[in-house]
Amino acid sequence: MPVSTWVEVDLDRFAANLRALRALAGGTGGILLVVKADAYGHGAVEIAAAAEAEGVSLLGVATLHEGIQLRQSGSTLPIVVLSPLLTSEIEEAVAHGLDPTVHDLQFAEALSRAGQQSGRPLRCHVEVDTGMGRTGVRRAEALAFFERLSALPALRLASAFTHFPDADGDDLAFSREQIDDFESLLRQLAERGIRPPRVHAANSAGAVNLPASRYDWLRVGLVAYGHRPPRCDAAIDLEPVMAFKSRLVQIRDLPAGAPISYGRTYVTRRPTRTGVVAVGYGHGYSWLLSSRGAMLVGGRRVPILGRVTMDLTMVDLTDVPAEVGDEVVLFGDQGEESLSLDEVAKGSETLPYEVMCTIGKRVTRIYVRDGRPVKLTSLVGESAEWAQRAAEHFRRRAEAVAAARHR
Ligand SMILES: Cc1ncc(COP(=O)(O)O)c(C=O)c1O
Repeated sequence: MPVSTWVEVDLDRFAANLRALRALAGGTGGILLVVKADAYGHGAVEIAAAAEAEGVSLLGVATLHEGIQLRQSGSTLPIVVLSPLLTSEIEEAVAHGLDPTVHDLQFAEALSRAGQQSGRPLRCHVEVDTGMGRTGVRRAEALAFFERLSALPALRLASAFTHFPDADGDDLAFSREQIDDFESLLRQLAERGIRPPRVHAANSAGAVNLPASRYDWLRVGLVAYGHRPPRCDAAIDLEPVMAFKSRLVQIRDLPAGAPISYGRTYVTRRPTRTGVVAVGYGHGYSWLLSSRGAMLVGGRRVPILGRVTMDLTMVDLTDVPAEVGDEVVLFGDQGEESLSLDEVAKGSETLPYEVMCTIGKRVTRIYVRDGRPVKLTSLVGESAEWAQRAAEHFRRRAEAVAAARHR
């Protein structure tokens, strides 16, 4: 294996999740795949390419540069910039064929002027705030807003949407009120002859818990990457796309009474064999997992000893046979054992979203199809030779798992 710390992105699982979501959306429903924050850490360029091949309708990013990155990589799908752009970003957005979300009239006017200058109407989306309390046009002002918008000369409304703050909670009453409110707006607009060509509301939680919110597109990230929201009413098969892995770079035998790592917060209680794992908070592995989290080595759980440092973390290998170079699973499967992203998120006192999207650039991404690496991207670029060496590691690992099953 040419790298010490990596993420495996299983593109077959990703494709299967998209198929399951398309089945959930029903015949005419499409998917607006949210690929912001580097596709939640999976790698936006590769995920966008796989999504396009799987028939996703359009992509959602948060920032101008995320959209430009996808265009530069050759993505031809419509790309919606979901977060508000500044008027100073309009020119570049238009130049790269990105479709802004309009959150207020001032921006809409500036966009229409840009459309006039370029000699063609510009596609835009409108977010209506029915209760998220973040961005968009407030529901109370939405009717007047859409009337003003339709009077602007060089805009083409592509969709209207709203967003749920808690469609994964115990009580869905607020989300249902949001849907009613959104629909009353759509009716009022229709009475005035304004019909957004597409409407959408369902994030992952809405998609699985609120069938009424599915409309034309599911606007999802989390479920496509294989994770269920805390509440998930739909019977849907989803498989985690990402696994986070590292390796043992040193093994040491320490006597009882030896302090481990910064702050000396952990002191061995018995003669202890420690394994040094090549991951730390500099990779996006949370410091809060210090003396609290666990990893998988040799198909077994081993506890973290002492503080997670920037690059390295120590685990207890006293009861687990292991060698330098062995694979360590931070979340994902190993043999018969698995360690979930949810567990790591809990130990890190955060959300699965944050765990995934804070895995940094120093962590190599290995894209996998049919159980084999097909692409490897790293801090120092892409390497076919490394991908081949990774393939060798994958092959030996699969053989070891098969042999263990036979024993
Ligand atoms: C406006 C908007 N829509 C959809 C999503 C996708 O959310 P999820 O990953 O929960 O499906 C997000 C993500 O935060 C978002 O900000």
